[in-house]
Amino acid sequence: MRTAEIRQKFLSFFESKGHQIVNSSPLVPGNDPTIMFTVAGMVQFKDVFLGNERRNYSRAVTSQKCLRAGGKHNDLENVGYTARHHTFFEMLGNFSFGDYFKRDALHYAWEFLTSPAWLGLPQEKLMVTVYATDDEAFEIWNKEVGIPSERIVRIGDNKGAPYASDNFWTMGDTGPCGPCTEIFYDHGPDVAGGPPGSPDEDGDRYVEIWNNVFMQFNRDESGTLHPLPKPSVDTGMGLERLSAVLQHVHTNYETDLFVDLLQATARETGVPYNQETPSLKVIADHIRACTFLIADGVLPSNEGRGYVLRRIVRRAVRHGYKLGQKGLFFHKLVPDLARLMGEAYPDLLEGQAFIMAALKTEEEQFARTLDNGMALLEKSLEGGKRRLEGKTAFALHSTYGFPVDLTADICREREVELDMAGYERELAEEQARGRAAGTFGAVTQVEYNGDDTTFDGYEHSEAEARVLALYKDGVAVDSLQAGDAGMVVLDNTAFYAEGGGQIGDSGQLCGASARFEVSDTRKVKSAVFGHVGTLASGTLKLGDAVSARIDSGKRLATARNHSATHLLHAALRQILGTHVQQKGSLVNHERTRFDFAHNQAVTAEEIVRIEALVNQQIVANHPVGASIMKQDEALQAGAMALFGEKYGDEVRVLKMGEFSTELCGGTHVQRTGDIGFFKIVAEGGVAAGIRRVEALTGEGALAHVQHMEQEIRAATHLVQAQPGDLVGKLEKLHAEQKALEKELAKLRGKLAASAGNSLQEQAVEVNGIKVLAATVEGADNNALREMVDKLKDKLGRAAIVLASVGDGKVALVAGVTADLTGTVKAGELVNFVAQQVGGKGGGRPDMAMAGGTNPAGLPAALAAVAGWVGAK
Ligand code: GLY
Repeated sequence: MRTAEIRQKFLSFFESKGHQIVNSSPLVPGNDPTIMFTVAGMVQFKDVFLGNERRNYSRAVTSQKCLRAGGKHNDLENVGYTARHHTFFEMLGNFSFGDYFKRDALHYAWEFLTSPAWLGLPQEKLMVTVYATDDEAFEIWNKEVGIPSERIVRIGDNKGAPYASDNFWTMGDTGPCGPCTEIFYDHGPDVAGGPPGSPDEDGDRYVEIWNNVFMQFNRDESGTLHPLPKPSVDTGMGLERLSAVLQHVHTNYETDLFVDLLQATARETGVPYNQETPSLKVIADHIRACTFLIADGVLPSNEGRGYVLRRIVRRAVRHGYKLGQKGLFFHKLVPDLARLMGEAYPDLLEGQAFIMAALKTEEEQFARTLDNGMALLEKSLEGGKRRLEGKTAFALHSTYGFPVDLTADICREREVELDMAGYERELAEEQARGRAAGTFGAVTQVEYNGDDTTFDGYEHSEAEARVLALYKDGVAVDSLQAGDAGMVVLDNTAFYAEGGGQIGDSGQLCGASARFEVSDTRKVKSAVFGHVGTLASGTLKLGDAVSARIDSGKRLATARNHSATHLLHAALRQILGTHVQQKGSLVNHERTRFDFAHNQAVTAEEIVRIEALVNQQIVANHPVGASIMKQDEALQAGAMALFGEKYGDEVRVLKMGEFSTELCGGTHVQRTGDIGFFKIVAEGGVAAGIRRVEALTGEGALAHVQHMEQEIRAATHLVQAQPGDLVGKLEKLHAEQKALEKELAKLRGKLAASAGNSLQEQAVEVNGIKVLAATVEGADNNALREMVDKLKDKLGRAAIVLASVGDGKVALVAGVTADLTGTVKAGELVNFVAQQVGGKGGGRPDMAMAGGTNPAGLPAALAAVAGWVGAK
């Protein structure tokens, strides 16, 4: 059975059991700072398990893209060395949100795996584990499903802390969690390894294929478990492992998809295809992770997710190098992967060119240092050393771009110990020196368990509301007094809370006796709005009635900028290409700032076209309409979903004519014509592969153009140009200036010649040498040099020093005729004078220059020159 067919069967089985088929979410979780990547199918349902979000189904099934390469779930270092670990993989999962629990979950799992109508796996090849104290799961497996007790293993807290167990699943340091039961497949005695719970359980013989988690708790930042509102089910089965079982092979790398990918890898690295070559497997695994990450909007960088991507790329490139491929090869695997997986993931096909370009840039960058880094590493291990010092690992990291796990990978291959503690020390010191690192910590939020806020601000600028909660310094209080800074939660509001790049509204909450000035609005939870500000007068108490009035002028200006951002996004994709993906945005009442993936600067000519296209859409005065749709339908209808945003099952689709369709919860104008006018004011790079455009709309854009016009008017006036002919006039002035400069140079030459004539007469004769030491008014270094040259010609055997004074500084040039340089050197001569005017200098024996800062010493210094020459 091919992998694609297995994926489909799983979805169909659970659909037949009343589950809603839901699309995979991106690898980057939306609005969740507690984890870097989607590590399991349940991530997109986290808020549903926690009871913060409701869907209109209580059973779901997915095939989810996952990445385990950083943070709590990290399989990176096992990749290539075991039969079953990957960085990127697909997880099949079925979910119950307070619907069925243990019994149904286990019966479903068994039916799908063993029923001849579905996968028909032999029962005797399967065994299971349960959490040590989970008698209920044990009984269901044993008594109801009929698994003999010797094939049910109880696993306790085997990872050194309460609930730290292979059979207690947690998403991250915080979040939904619970005991689990895992189903294992026995690949048979010809594969090394023991059953779960035995000392050699890490072998490849018994492979965990399916984990059924009984979601019962939410773990908080202190590690305390709080019961979830409703016990739920979350399961995860690795598609690649299941394919191996059903294709009767012992490793994931022998399955249909991987055999093709390994062959492509062998072709690009120039080695024979061989299942026993770990490096081929590492590269085949890593090209999937890297391609999918870039397709989901991540680009290589030095922090956070981008750094995980960079580490994976570099690890793959180093394995290519190990196979003898020193040229660029990794990005060339993208078309192979797109061919193999593009049907299930069409973005791979659409984004192929961009993904290749991004990977190629990263490969090129690392290729520049890889060779030298490897040389350093070889040198450090010379003489059969068995330990690599932390300092070296750190130098490899900081100078040659070797992520430490790459160095660890090499050390492991060579059975060399890596001084990790030493490396960490060096790193900590460097960090202390101020280098930033990406941080992913849990957000601190206020405690709130009350009702949701109804948002009534799309149509209205004012709402009648009641105070549900008050906070001062992050702590819940019963009342706020005049002067208190704090936060107010209302049951109903017209205030938009910051989200989707748009800043929160400001305005006022007016009660019978109190006025609260709102400076910002933020979400406390997905549907709970916090109004942040200061109580200007009176007392505000829980339960008080208030009128929540937004600052409408600011809101309208913000709406213009937000709507213009959608037009800009669509225009960028039309003019620069569909690889343009939003990377971030900030919309406020003053401007819009839009970051997007694009590999080169946007040219001035492209900016003109983008502005023209956006303004055309404004003039077309399209209606701006929002409608609520199912996410799948919206995406199918071509709505653009934005990077890092989390969307529920039902989404708000914002449409501007036929030109732009995006998922967006923000506030917008009613017709595009309301934007008035759109003007780009800045374009630049923010990171590798990411550009930033800043733009203004409406009155802001008008003010900008008026300001520029004022400048032009002032400039026109200044250069006395005819209106409309500023450039012509500037060109003319520029040409005139060039001609004047030439003329000036000529005149200087003449001046030097005539000054030379009169200076010539000031020369005195000392021992048959003409000595001239004089000051020339207003001459610069060039002029002095020219004069010295001319005087040398005229005077014959001569030693000359000319000086000029300007801005409190002395310039000196000395020249000596060639026949004299054996006795008098220009450098010494100029220094003799310079020392007396607070400076020094140097040059050739026949010509030298110097400067000084003490003009007062000059007359005496020049008067002493004849004596100094005479003494030579
Ligand atoms: N959430 C279940 C698993 O990842 O195993």
